[in-house]
Amino acid sequence: MSENYIMETKKINCAIVGLGRIGSTLEFDRKREKPASHAGVISAHKECVLSSGCDIDEAKCSNFKNDWNCPDCYTSLSQMLENHRIDILHIATPPETHKNILEKAIESKIPVIIVEKPVSDNLKDAVKIEKMSLKSDSRIIVNHERRYTQQTERIKKNINECRYGKLLSINSKMYMGRKRSLESMIYDDGTHIIDLINYLSGGCLRIDDITGSEKEGHVSVYAHCSEIYIQMEFARGREYLLFETDLSFEKGRIISGNGYYDEFESRESPYYENFYSLMNKDVNFSTSGYFIRMFEDAVRCFKDPGLVPVSDITDGVNAVRIINEIIRKI
Ligand SMILES: NC(=O)c1ccc[n+]([C@@H]2O[C@H](COP(=O)([O-])OP(=O)(O)OC[C@H]3O[C@@H](n4cnc5c(N)ncnc54)[C@H](O)[C@@H]3O)[C@@H](O)[C@H]2O)c1
Repeated sequence: MSENYIMETKKINCAIVGLGRIGSTLEFDRKREKPASHAGVISAHKECVLSSGCDIDEAKCSNFKNDWNCPDCYTSLSQMLENHRIDILHIATPPETHKNILEKAIESKIPVIIVEKPVSDNLKDAVKIEKMSLKSDSRIIVNHERRYTQQTERIKKNINECRYGKLLSINSKMYMGRKRSLESMIYDDGTHIIDLINYLSGGCLRIDDITGSEKEGHVSVYAHCSEIYIQMEFARGREYLLFETDLSFEKGRIISGNGYYDEFESRESPYYENFYSLMNKDVNFSTSGYFIRMFEDAVRCFKDPGLVPVSDITDGVNAVRIINEIIRKI
């Protein structure tokens, strides 16, 4: 625990750089599970205080001060870092800005830094950030929020405990609207799927083959991790948004998507003699806890500098490396 934490205030001081959608305004989307933004999650945590914000856009600063009743907002990051003792810094700016901001945050010895995914818009910078952070005392959490959901925690536990026998394959799909380029889709959003699959399969995802192209609007990635067979499909041209992960085990299957979760167990078939069928186990989740559980990881890391976050900088860089490999081939 830092000395300052005890001496200056009982609360953990948090600040945000980048006061756009994920930094602040997604909180006001009436349909989203809350908290849905960095400002929202800090404000909802009783051990933390939202002490300041920073955005190069003055209008964003002014809205932020009103929306969150936060007195201090800066258009200069250096000034914010000089004026405030920050325990947890949230970086919610576009990916191409992450490297410079992280450099300043690490130089300022911020104990815990949460950076939005993807770590960077290019692999070279992502690797530089990783090297820099590994030499420092700052711990970086990459907000690949799907790692943190209750659903993912249950899946990971099932895998680790071999509840349905060995995990044999993972199939995942990400579908989006007509206008998106596959490259931006994979960089901005596909990173969640890539990171999640790498996490669930044990962190050793290796690509075997890639088919499809930007022109076709469809890409299939064939990969493996140890003996687990992996397929990822990215496609545009749908009227709906789909993120789905389908895991098949020796004795079961789990399908987890945005807003749904189904877990099946192999049982003596009610439909055929001498066969087994998959029967739904009726596992229900009313929420996912995606944002609050990520932030609780940051708070834990702040209180105990020995802890390694669930989603660390190396995980984030691995996702950028895999994205790069896919994008080079489409
Ligand atoms: N975890 C998620 O599910 C999720 C969801 C949305 C966005 N994101 C990620 O969050 C990041 C931001 O996305 P967004 O949709 O909120 O973008 P946004 O454009 O709505 O907000 C970004 C803000 O950063 C500010 N900004 C830009 N450069 C800056 C700088 N150098 N210093 C200070 N402020 C700066 C902009 O003025 C803007 O207000 C991206 O990396 C994006 O991929 C993650």
